[in-house]
Amino acid sequence: MKDILEQLEDRREGARLGGGQNRIDAQHGRGKLSARERVDLLLDEGSFEEFDMFVTHRCTDFGMEQQKPAGDGVVTGWGTINGRLVYVFSQDFTVLGGSVSETHAKKICKIMDMAMQNGAPIIGINDSGGARIQEGVDSLAGYGEVFQRNIQASGVVPQISVIMGPCAGGAVYSPAMTDFIFMVKDSSYMFVTGPDVVKTVTNEQVTSEELGGASTHTRKSSVADAAFENDVEALAEVRRLVDFLPANNREKPPVRPFFDEPDRIEPSLDTLVPTNANTPYDMKELILKLADEGDFYEIQQEFAKNIVTGFFRIEGRTVGVVANQPMVLAGVLDIDSARKAARFVRFCDAFEIPILTLIDVPGFLPGTSQEYGGVIKHGAKLLFAYGEATVPMVTVITRKAYGGAYVVMASKHLQSDFNYAWPTAEIAVMGAKGATEIIHRADLKDPQKIASHAADYEERFANPFVAAERGFIDEVIQPRMTRKRISRAFASLRNKSKTMPWKKHDNIPL
Ligand code: HXC
Repeated sequence: MKDILEQLEDRREGARLGGGQNRIDAQHGRGKLSARERVDLLLDEGSFEEFDMFVTHRCTDFGMEQQKPAGDGVVTGWGTINGRLVYVFSQDFTVLGGSVSETHAKKICKIMDMAMQNGAPIIGINDSGGARIQEGVDSLAGYGEVFQRNIQASGVVPQISVIMGPCAGGAVYSPAMTDFIFMVKDSSYMFVTGPDVVKTVTNEQVTSEELGGASTHTRKSSVADAAFENDVEALAEVRRLVDFLPANNREKPPVRPFFDEPDRIEPSLDTLVPTNANTPYDMKELILKLADEGDFYEIQQEFAKNIVTGFFRIEGRTVGVVANQPMVLAGVLDIDSARKAARFVRFCDAFEIPILTLIDVPGFLPGTSQEYGGVIKHGAKLLFAYGEATVPMVTVITRKAYGGAYVVMASKHLQSDFNYAWPTAEIAVMGAKGATEIIHRADLKDPQKIASHAADYEERFANPFVAAERGFIDEVIQPRMTRKRISRAFASLRNKSKTMPWKKHDNIPL
């Protein structure tokens, strides 16, 4: 009996070594942790339960029958993050470059199926050279099975991808279908085809970092939601994100203890908006002052900075925040910001996370590059996302809410529940200057007359009261009272129940 127990331990020890100590050392040499070290850091200490440690591939081509490492290049299982169940897979680059075989894919599918069945998030740690070349179509089929589960799980359980090495080909398409993608600076890459293929096909010379590094994907392509300095920081941030999210689409997000009065009054907010309507101010200051303990988890911080998206808590409960940022492009809506915010709003709606929208928006960005890039369709994504959302929605207009952007940004007309405005709000079709030049075109040559028309227009429309008289604004509130007002509003909406007409699915302008 003792022999058998020892044999089991020996087999486990062998499996834990993956591709061997030399390759683990090489992984460390690149500043990367091993697949198991990553799982240990991600989960609560001692909570990991492994599946399929002894699974091996079945390939007999190219001498593969000679190398059958236990586990087949991926560590899978479940554990907890701050006591809450999650499923995890972590690809082991030391085993055939973390490449995906038929059996490797089956292991991932098994835990994805368990996660959907038991209603818990799936976290994928990706460090893989893509389809295992020796297996040919069997590995492609394996990828297909994973993709299909990503699609089925979308909107059912949160899916988070952490990219922690070179990910090429199939290795990027599974993360692409998940809710959040995190990268590690200088050691992770994502591309459909690597620099060599790019050189052959397009004659472009580009490094891996330029083509698919963390900076490229967080600033240019927006494929990734955040990038961190190293594996340890990235995994700690995944834990922080999971704390904000519900386990699945039938549960509410967790309620955390809070140490901040919901009716905290913030006198400094009374002077946040500058007297000159064209002077910028930092919307993040407002966000931090509204949040429980000033804790804000920003999503896509480096992309389309003219809109801010992220999570905070009020009364210990998660709220998704969408806010125009007057510091960047005056907070205008454009293709990138509309796409960024639309995806965020849809995530919140899918997972029952209430949405707070903070508005200071001068409209949509004009110009050929926007029109040729399809701003009509991309702007419509945000309009559509707000209009189809059934979660509690609270909106605060701090300053400008002009034109189409006023309607798009969670207006009363899109069935937002509470629409507040500060006394500094200006709700109009456009700014006074632009409006005057159109209405009073005949007076364009007379600057005095134009100035007087602009002053009239401002007097009439540069305030929240015209909209409030019509009930499009529910209440004009004191800036200092904002946290109290929105926390009471969200509290009153906790049992909100709203259904949309039956349909197979909508046809959002993609
Ligand atoms: C089998 C692989 C592999 C793969 C890497 N390895 N990728 N084995 N299949 N896809 C092996 C290597 O042979 C090597 O084994 C070990 O992993 C480490 O790889 P290195 O090349 O030494 O590491 P590095 O220099 O860091 O380069 C990493 C890499 C590179 C950039 C990922 O290995 C690479 O370009 N691999 C191929 C990528 C690729 O073309 N994948 C197929 C994509 S097509 P030894 O024993 O020598 O140490 C695809 C289609 C799916 O995924 C489509 C679904 C829709």
